[in-house]
Amino acid sequence: MSLPRLRVAAMMMFGSLVFGAAAAAENASVFRVPDIAALPDNAHGRQVRLGRALITKTYAYIGPFGPDPAMRYAGNDLACGDCHLEAGTQTFGLPLVGLYGDFPRYSARSGTDISIEDRINSCMTRSMNGRQLPVDAPAMQALAAYVKFLSSNVPPDKRVPYDRSWQIPELDRAADPIRGKVVYVRVCLGCHQGDGAGIAANPKALVLGYVVPPLWGKGSFNDGAGMARIITLANFAYANMPPGATHATPALSSVEAWDVAAYVESQRRPTKSELARDFSTDLLAKPVDAPYGPYADDFSEAQHKYGPFMPIRAEIAHLKATQKVRSGD
Ligand code: HEC
Ligand code: HEC
Repeated sequence: MSLPRLRVAAMMMFGSLVFGAAAAAENASVFRVPDIAALPDNAHGRQVRLGRALITKTYAYIGPFGPDPAMRYAGNDLACGDCHLEAGTQTFGLPLVGLYGDFPRYSARSGTDISIEDRINSCMTRSMNGRQLPVDAPAMQALAAYVKFLSSNVPPDKRVPYDRSWQIPELDRAADPIRGKVVYVRVCLGCHQGDGAGIAANPKALVLGYVVPPLWGKGSFNDGAGMARIITLANFAYANMPPGATHATPALSSVEAWDVAAYVESQRRPTKSELARDFSTDLLAKPVDAPYGPYADDFSEAQHKYGPFMPIRAEIAHLKATQKVRSGD
């Protein structure tokens, strides 16, 4: 039996929990970042290097002030690398390593199978608050080539899903924006500023991007972005903020990370249209911390935004079980 089929069989037999643990162990052994400097200066090498530059200096190519008006697909001046740290190679900084073979894959958000280009475009329309890059645009091809390159050390029949086993424990209360503000003022404000707008390299030339990216306001990711979900932001901040902090040597306690994330998520940011379509084919698959409805359960939008999440998970599990019974009738 081929490897992928074996894995599918294992998944059906043991359920996704066991599968997740096995995948995490696998992840640890294959997270090897290939050396971009070793690529030759040929068409492929140049395309991969362009892809890397598009990640680290996105604003300079496809930002709202980019040199070619036809290519201004991003709606803000962030870089992909503001979140996918070290150009997507940092273990706890939303790495882009080893995932190429996972596509096309089923996306519960859209209810369809999506390609790597579709996945990149969901960061384009949400994290970058912009428009979809055409699949045949050289910028898209370069981004996809770079993501593929980052999977060079992973056998083509393997997938290395994002490892969440390291994430911080959840609170049994709602995360609290008021306590979070105290943390923000003490730890984050010096860089990300009191108005959350960050520090532009040159306020008169946003094509040069930010020294410190915005966390809210019109220059930030929109409310449909992964970072607009508190579980994502709390874990990202815990393992990476301020720069220099690591998962092993964090600057924040996990409680501070939840509360400061609540403060950031409580602020205004751009809104994405048609968010109600997300997960509409299966609301039970919607992440518990999606800050926008509709939901399969009756918990408030506030509880979905700030937690606590365990009661929501229990209700979702209950609804899934009843759904199964019903469809078995
Ligand atoms: C504001 C933060 C942010 C920015 C900016 C951003 N992303 Fe993302 N990206 C995320 C988050 C959060 C996820 C979801 C990770 C997860 O699965 O929890 C993600 C997921 C992805 C994935 C899928 C990863 C996987 O494990 O399947 C790809 C590919 C990706 N982003 C590419 C990009 C590209 C290319 C850009 C720039 C055009 C970009 N992102 C900009 C936050 C961001
Ligand atoms: C020393 C300056 C500094 C401090 C202090 C700092 N950050 Fe950051 N932050 C950055 C920089 C620079 C980036 C871009 C990624 C990188 O280059 O490391 C970033 C990126 C981010 C991002 C992802 C990008 C975006 O725009 O959303 C989040 C979220 C974030 N910081 C949250 C925080 C929080 C919360 C705190 C306080 C606990 C904090 N940061 C403290 C400099 C700082």
